[in-house]
Amino acid sequence: MEISVILVVGFCVLLVDHGAQASHQSSRNLQETDQPYRTGYHFQPPKNWMNDPNGPMYYKGVYHLFYQYNPDGAVWGNIIWAHSVSYDLVNWVHIDHAIYPTQPSDINGCWSGSTTILPGEKPAILYTGIDTKNHQVQNLAVPKNLSDPLLREWIKSPYNPLMTPIDGIDPDLYRDPTTAWQGPDKIWRVIVGSQINGHGRAILYRSKDFVNWTRMDSPLHSSGKTEMWECPDFFPVSTSSTNGVDTSSQDKSTKHVLKASFNHHDYYILGSYMPENDKFSVETNFMDSGVDLRYDYGKFYASKTFFDGAMNRRILWGWINESDSESDDIKKGWSGLQSIPRTVLLSKNGKQLVQWPVKEIEKLRSKNVSFHDKKLKSGSVLEVPGITASQADVDVSFELLNLEDAEILDPSWTDAQLLCSQKKASVRGKLGPFGLLAFATKDLKEQTAIYFRIFRSNHKYIVLMCSDQSRSSVREELDKTTYGAFVDMDPRHENITLRSLIDHSIVESFGGEGRACITARTYAKLAIHKQAYLFAFNNGTSSVKISRLNAWSMKNAQIVSTTKRRKSHL
Ligand SMILES: *[C@@H]1O[C@H](CO)[C@@H](O)[C@H](O)[C@H]1NC(C)=O
Ligand SMILES: *[C@@H]1O[C@H](CO)[C@@H](O)[C@H](O)[C@H]1NC(C)=O
Ligand SMILES: *[C@@H]1O[C@H](CO)[C@@H](O)[C@H](O)[C@H]1NC(C)=O
Ligand SMILES: *[C@@H]1O[C@H](CO)[C@@H](O)[C@H](O)[C@H]1NC(C)=O
Ligand SMILES: *[C@@H]1O[C@H](CO)[C@@H](O)[C@H](O)[C@H]1NC(C)=O
Ligand SMILES: *[C@@H]1O[C@H](CO)[C@@H](O)[C@H](O)[C@H]1NC(C)=O
Repeated sequence: MEISVILVVGFCVLLVDHGAQASHQSSRNLQETDQPYRTGYHFQPPKNWMNDPNGPMYYKGVYHLFYQYNPDGAVWGNIIWAHSVSYDLVNWVHIDHAIYPTQPSDINGCWSGSTTILPGEKPAILYTGIDTKNHQVQNLAVPKNLSDPLLREWIKSPYNPLMTPIDGIDPDLYRDPTTAWQGPDKIWRVIVGSQINGHGRAILYRSKDFVNWTRMDSPLHSSGKTEMWECPDFFPVSTSSTNGVDTSSQDKSTKHVLKASFNHHDYYILGSYMPENDKFSVETNFMDSGVDLRYDYGKFYASKTFFDGAMNRRILWGWINESDSESDDIKKGWSGLQSIPRTVLLSKNGKQLVQWPVKEIEKLRSKNVSFHDKKLKSGSVLEVPGITASQADVDVSFELLNLEDAEILDPSWTDAQLLCSQKKASVRGKLGPFGLLAFATKDLKEQTAIYFRIFRSNHKYIVLMCSDQSRSSVREELDKTTYGAFVDMDPRHENITLRSLIDHSIVESFGGEGRACITARTYAKLAIHKQAYLFAFNNGTSSVKISRLNAWSMKNAQIVSTTKRRKSHL
């Protein structure tokens, strides 16, 4: 209680002292005229380029998010760690930059990394520095004053760099240390992403004191089927409960997840990890045929998780990049979003992860509309009226009335994205396409369709989920790639659910209770503000029923800046 009062006062002092600038508020006003694509409740800095989320953590009542940031423009460059803090993962205050070039080991850039909370409640950041020779090296930084609840200032270890690209490591392909974990032997382990002999690899280091790190002969894992692994992440998930698991925890009821970022996506595999010999035995491997485990099948990259001890959950953040051009970004003055933070759990069948937007985001729900038992006949387009369709949260469940109508799928169709590209929302099917039309004009000229199609193959049903951006904007020059995923579910036993978080230029969709996620960026030209509509539709010949639909207007998150440091450190 007392601590939270002090923190609130701390925030107020911070705001009053330096003059809070309600960046999101003022940008909202701007938005009515020339910023239709700025978001209302996604995390964004007031301006400029943002990419990877870095070092997220929960520490003594405060959530911290650091991120890769260019203080000087809307394109990648001059990379430092910007820093924002929050009590609820929804409303944020941007504070002073945390890590920026100061030493030979990071003078050419401060790239991605992670936080580890050391014994005695001491956070430590391991990050990649770009040194005087433009080599990638790994550095350590710690808070200057542990009594500052916002951990505003960070000091760098005099021993930096702690890890260097020697013994066959390519100095251009060696980055993004994970959160470290401690074995029962009290020795710390960390992995660093790399590529050796053309193969993606998680180089493993060990240390007793977090400063002196020794490289192990064997990597934690590597793959001949991928190239460079960026932003690896390695963490346990529970096989027996819906709680998250602390990174160093280890018992019989955990499995481990290894995530690596490559080919523009975040792929993961599951396995069992033995700290005695640091062996990770995988159940399936990256790029195995028939295996395509990704956090998100749309735009979502360089993600990172952390364990939130306050709520006993593991939370995932991912970078969502733009689909417009660099010159559009310069005109907008910004580039890059963070996803809504998602809780991550192992699915009931243990074969994959499931994700769901953190509960706190529901605080922003305001005006709502609900339907129950609404039949959607072939060709129906049903307006979801009365909410702000450009800034909304929608949760819908479809009941299939005639499962026997499912089309036969040739088993050679194993690529969901290709299938979605062939069978767009505009291609009539049997059981589907049905779903939502977001960012739509009244005449449907512009629309972003998130939908399902149900197929049968042998004696199994196959649920395809798609996000079709091909008609999302009358603007020509955008990336309008269609995305797709198979949802691991049996429609004989459950209805088809979809939750979509719609926010001006992003739609994050969670199919089958979070078993398949697709994030898309869209830039409607006509369907903006009050001209944006939301519809449910069914373009299959077979009827489906909306068993329930709830949709809410979403309020703006309060995302504000302190203006103490108007200029960058550079
Ligand atoms: C550390 O932070 C606390 C709380 O903000 C403050 O009272 C104290 O003066 C700081 N100490 C130093 C050495 O800056
Ligand atoms: C660093 O750790 C290694 C392995 O534990 C040890 O052999 C070496 O002496 C240590 N070096 C220093 C400077 O502590
Ligand atoms: C960012 O978006 C562009 C265009 O949509 C895409 O080609 C590119 O691969 C993306 N970058 C990453 C790192 O995902
Ligand atoms: C929708 O709004 C009504 C009236 O404000 C409220 O009573 C109801 O609980 C809301 N429903 C949902 C699902 O939020
Ligand atoms: C439904 O299918 C028809 C025929 O293929 C197509 O012209 C129309 O655009 C589709 N409707 C939607 C909402 O996608
Ligand atoms: C779908 O939802 C309806 C209404 O809640 C329910 O009666 C029905 O049993 C559900 N169908 C399946 C297959 O779960």
